Amino acid sequence: MYHAAVRAVQSEILKKHVALTFQEADFRYSLTHTPDGATYSSSNGVENRTVSASWAFGAGEIGQTYLLENMGIYTEARATYFTSLDSLDITPGQTSKIPEGIEKSLGNRLDSGVAQLCFGCHTTAATTSGAFEPEKAVPGVTCEACHGPGATHATAMKAQQYDKGSAAITNPMHLSPSDSVDFCGACHRTWADVAFGMGSNIGAASLRFQPFRLEKSRCWGKNGDARITCIACHDPHQPLVRDLTAYDSKCLACHSAKANPQKKTAVFATCREATSKCVSCHMPKYEVEQTHATFTDHYIRVVSRGSVGASFPTER
Ligand code: HEC
Ligand code: HEC
Ligand code: HEC
Ligand code: HEC
Ligand code: HEC
Ligand code: HEC
Repeated sequence: MYHAAVRAVQSEILKKHVALTFQEADFRYSLTHTPDGATYSSSNGVENRTVSASWAFGAGEIGQTYLLENMGIYTEARATYFTSLDSLDITPGQTSKIPEGIEKSLGNRLDSGVAQLCFGCHTTAATTSGAFEPEKAVPGVTCEACHGPGATHATAMKAQQYDKGSAAITNPMHLSPSDSVDFCGACHRTWADVAFGMGSNIGAASLRFQPFRLEKSRCWGKNGDARITCIACHDPHQPLVRDLTAYDSKCLACHSAKANPQKKTAVFATCREATSKCVSCHMPKYEVEQTHATFTDHYIRVVSRGSVGASFPTER
């Protein structure tokens, strides 16, 4: 998350690919990187537009999207770099229709409210004291994005005023399970964001919104449980763990006879099918349209056909 955004001139992806191009009908898009900056252009053989690409959004797990800047107005470039393709394709969320005219071919113009949202989730402190100042944004999701401004904390700690120091910092450790998931949901979208915001468009499109998927699971229960919040499985200070066996202990914290020695709660069901790599069957991965990438379904359940590439099952 620390690399969720960088200034385009500093993008490692662009440094490695100094000239990327993509052809869509008559339009040819190109993204050029030099040590002085990055530019994005569109040409249809008759007209040309070249704009500076000021920001690169996304660490590149899936890809990287560029924000073009012209006199304080941001445009989300029409072509995005996709890691799995190692080249450009249409930016997720943008229309698959051929753009009408050279201006539109650059991408989607963002009104300042929308640009502010991108910066809000991918950078730190783009908006301070109510004013949106993207040029002052700290790239990426830094400590302060989650823990709040640290200046008071650091000063108090140095002065050995530990109580004052701890109180000055947001500590997301003592939140209830629902609040803890909503805390991550501030950027990963909360259950309510999806349920009320996406209407009938729920299904495979909601795969990117883990809090919503997770809270649909019977494992979550009515009010959740600290053993199944986002931070039970993910350490936000570390890169994502890719070894699937590492998650077994998280499941077995509930689904084993040992998990409830005092029998305070009912003993949870155990699996008759396997004893490890639980998530490989119960949290399979599916491709999300336009992203050229797969996402892990956080709706934990018995999935009949569940490996990468299988089609997304109909929702019950
Ligand atoms: C301020 C916004 C923000 C908050 C709050 C936030 N995230 Fe993220 N998170 C992001 C963004 C943006 C990305 C995408 C980073 C990228 O790949 O560019 C991300 C990516 C991730 C990833 C994938 C990382 C990878 O290596 O692929 C995980 C896992 C994750 N977040 C977990 C969490 C958890 C757990 C919490 C709550 C403790 C949390 N996030 C809170 C913005 C946020
Ligand atoms: C509500 C918070 C939020 C907003 C607003 C937001 N993003 Fe994201 N973005 C995320 C999170 C969380 C992830 C990681 C999970 C995922 O990929 O779905 C992400 C992932 C991405 C990725 C893929 C990152 C990777 O490593 O492959 C790109 C590219 C991206 N966002 C670009 C943008 C752009 C451009 C905008 C504005 C038009 C934007 N985002 C607005 C939260 C947000
Ligand atoms: C995506 C959100 C996120 C980011 C970014 C983040 N943290 Fe945290 N941090 C948390 C959460 C959630 C907890 C509580 C759960 C835990 O310990 O994992 C936490 C706990 C901590 C704790 C332990 C608090 C205690 O009382 O024991 C420290 C120290 C800490 N973070 C420091 C940092 C530092 C330093 C950075 C930047 C390098 C950072 N965090 C970045 C979310 C975040
Ligand atoms: C906080 C405790 C908890 C954790 C952690 C947990 N579960 Fe569950 N899970 C439950 C409860 C409660 C149920 C409801 C049925 C029951 O009592 O066994 C359930 C139900 C299920 C079901 C049946 C779902 C259905 O729709 O019938 C599956 C499959 C499952 N869990 C798998 C997992 C896997 C795999 C993991 C780890 C990725 C996991 N669970 C983690 C508590 C948990
Ligand atoms: C029971 C364990 C578990 C819980 C709880 C959990 N995750 Fe995950 N998460 C995983 C696994 C497993 C992966 C896939 C790891 C891999 O193979 O890349 C994953 C992957 C991700 C990714 C990377 C994109 C993707 O879809 O593969 C993000 C982002 C993420 N989780 C965010 C969250 C957030 C936010 C929450 C809280 C709502 C959460 N996770 C709760 C197990 C969990
Ligand atoms: C190879 C795929 C696979 C793996 C790996 C796997 N499961 Fe299952 N699991 C299934 C299938 C299929 C069912 C449904 C079986 C049935 O209905 O008899 C199931 C059923 C369950 C149930 C519901 C049982 C019930 O009686 O309601 C739970 C809970 C569960 N698994 C948890 C786990 C846990 C925890 C792990 C890891 C220790 C795990 N599973 C590993 C495929 C798998």
